[in-house]
Amino acid sequence: MKTRYVYIETFGCQMNVHDSEQMAALLEKEGYLLTQDSAAADLILLNTCSIRDKAEQKAFSELGRLVKLKEKNPGLLVGFGGCLAQHLKEGVYKREKAVDFVFGTHHICRLPEILTAVTTGKKRAVETCFFSEIQSLGVFAPPAPGALSAFVSIMQGCDNYCSYCVVPYLRGPEMSRPPEEILAEIRRLACCGVKEVTLLGQNVNSYGKNLAAGCNFVSLIKAIQDVEGIERIRFTTSHPKDLSDDLIDCFGSLSKLCGHIHLPVQSGSNRILGRMNRGYTVEEYGAKVARLRAVCPSISITSDIIVGFPGETAKDYQETIDMMEKIRFDSLFSFKYSERKGTAARTFKDPVPEAEKRRRLKELQALQDGHTQEKNWALEGSVQEVLVEGPSKNSDLEMTGRTRSWKIVNFKGGRELVGKKVNVLITRGFLHSLRGRMTER
Ligand code: SAH
Ligand code: SF4
Ligand code: F3S
Repeated sequence: MKTRYVYIETFGCQMNVHDSEQMAALLEKEGYLLTQDSAAADLILLNTCSIRDKAEQKAFSELGRLVKLKEKNPGLLVGFGGCLAQHLKEGVYKREKAVDFVFGTHHICRLPEILTAVTTGKKRAVETCFFSEIQSLGVFAPPAPGALSAFVSIMQGCDNYCSYCVVPYLRGPEMSRPPEEILAEIRRLACCGVKEVTLLGQNVNSYGKNLAAGCNFVSLIKAIQDVEGIERIRFTTSHPKDLSDDLIDCFGSLSKLCGHIHLPVQSGSNRILGRMNRGYTVEEYGAKVARLRAVCPSISITSDIIVGFPGETAKDYQETIDMMEKIRFDSLFSFKYSERKGTAARTFKDPVPEAEKRRRLKELQALQDGHTQEKNWALEGSVQEVLVEGPSKNSDLEMTGRTRSWKIVNFKGGRELVGKKVNVLITRGFLHSLRGRMTER
């Protein structure tokens, strides 16, 4: 049989990256090999994101480029999946006729079946219904040879309905995977040589809501702590309103839980946080950060901020700046508010002009760069545990890896170190990485 090739392009968050890994694993069983060359593909899948308007534009401009390949290869199939597919449904065909099928976020495990229908004559399929049970999270994506890290989905969907956000409409209601399934997957990953797992969910802190009493995020990570072969545990994303004292304590007591938390704050103004439906105040957020730092002084704290939310005044914005000055994040993802169809904030008055959003974003990012640089300077002279991933981007004589706090470190060393944890004395802190040398300590 002729080998068939699939090219998958991923947009959006880590959840989408993991969904694409699952798609590749499923298609491999159907005889498709993954290719990095779109021109060589028999099947092209776009796994899209719809979080902001920009993500949507990016997906369509890439789709426009890829469907042109059909002129040379009329047998080429193009599937449009992910959050933007879920959002637009049959509307995808209005924008681009050359798409062969549209599949939503709950249909990943149905890809083989959808492909059979499409190749046997079904035209313009649209598979975007939601299922009341978890369908796709359990597909096992074997790690690439030598991979040290892997993503593990622990839940799907979101029930929070932050007023600006489309995710609950695109991923469905929150549902947690049973812990036995998650642990079995992690044991299997450990057998494949994986040493670090990142647990994925829109709000991992509320894991277990639909499961038996006593089954929560803390009990899950405590069970993962006992999995042999796994050396590091990470998770993303945490919602501040559900970050419990018990979970905070885990950063002091669980040796495998890495000292990094991504804790999106979104705004420093209580008025705006209320309108965003976030469920906490700036003071409550600050108190949780203080507890995290008390329990684990070396913890790195990263966050997300939206500027220019409807009605954000100069005073609200200044409060965000003041909060940043006080908290000092290790790094930050910041975005201009983007109006999304179907969300509550779309009806809110007093939009912030585009130019002002741009100005606020630029100023805030410059402030953050200063804070990130300061944090990295402060690490000079310290010894960090680094899990060695491979040669660095710039030199084969240098290895690269991450600290427990998720910072990139480059240092002199050979390939025999790959997969090992080594101690590195940090000699320089840059904006985006650290440099150091190996030490016995
Ligand atoms: N579930 C996660 C992340 C969701 S999306 C959480 O709650 O933190 C990632 C980030 O995108 C959000 O934290 C938010 O900062 C940003 N975002 C979401 N919707 C947005 C919108 N309409 N405009 C601009 N940024 C948005
Ligand atoms: Fe969106 Fe809020 Fe859910 Fe995060 S918690 S995915 S921001 S609705
Ligand atoms: Fe985008 Fe969907 Fe993730 S909208 S950010 S890919 S959950």
